[in-house]
Amino acid sequence: MKNPRVHEIATAMIDAVRKVLIDHQVTEAEYRAGVMYMMKVAEAKETGLISDVFLNSTIVEIKAANTHGSAPAIQGPYFKEDAPFVDGKLKTYDSDDHKPLLLHGTVKDEAGGVVSDAVIDIWHSTPDGRYSGFGGYHGDMPVEYYRGKIRTDSQGRWRVQTTLPAPYQIPNKGPTGALLTMMGSHTWRPAHVHFKIRKDGFEPLTTQYYFEGGEWVDSDCCNGVQPELVMPAAIEQNMQVMVLDFVIEKPRA
Ligand code: DHB
Ligand code: FE
Repeated sequence: MKNPRVHEIATAMIDAVRKVLIDHQVTEAEYRAGVMYMMKVAEAKETGLISDVFLNSTIVEIKAANTHGSAPAIQGPYFKEDAPFVDGKLKTYDSDDHKPLLLHGTVKDEAGGVVSDAVIDIWHSTPDGRYSGFGGYHGDMPVEYYRGKIRTDSQGRWRVQTTLPAPYQIPNKGPTGALLTMMGSHTWRPAHVHFKIRKDGFEPLTTQYYFEGGEWVDSDCCNGVQPELVMPAAIEQNMQVMVLDFVIEKPRA
């Protein structure tokens, strides 16, 4: 059965790729190498990774242009729906050289009204750039580390303590990393904290924030940094702090 939306987008994509082949006079040998490369991506189970590295930020830009709420950002592959509710503090592996990080702020609606009882999922990497609950390269950290859910209070306020995340290297041993290297790029993302804010009757907001002056902020391999997502370093109670006042919006008809 013909699907008009698939027809429109798939046709436009194929036309765009054909134009590149012609403009760059791609040879039969290069074309075959490209097909082999795509097979390697599938074999390495990196189809999701390579799509997200190059294209997710564009989808987020489209979303950002149509929102009246806080800036959205890429979700990345490390969100876990089953992260537990926490009471003011994420579970972390503490050590003297892990710096504390305080996160707090508010959730409001577009009219400036407080949104109480919104659920905020927060997740980020360890101080050495790994995510819990994924095994493999990330180690066998249980899912309750470095992630959790909290609720806004009756004034729409929220607050949680954790430790500072580090820059993160996307899986770099496979075909996606090889392509980035051949393109003269690299496989690093700046240190960041992810948030997903949900409340019945509102559009969910998925976003992430970066630290001003942080390494790779100006050259994220996933192209996910927007100026409004970079937070200045601030200190409160001897801790680095990120203050974030989120605005969520009602679905548009
Ligand atoms: C990837 C990892 C992240 O932590 C993130 O926020 C976005 C993308 C990745 O591995 O592609
Ligand atoms: Fe991430």
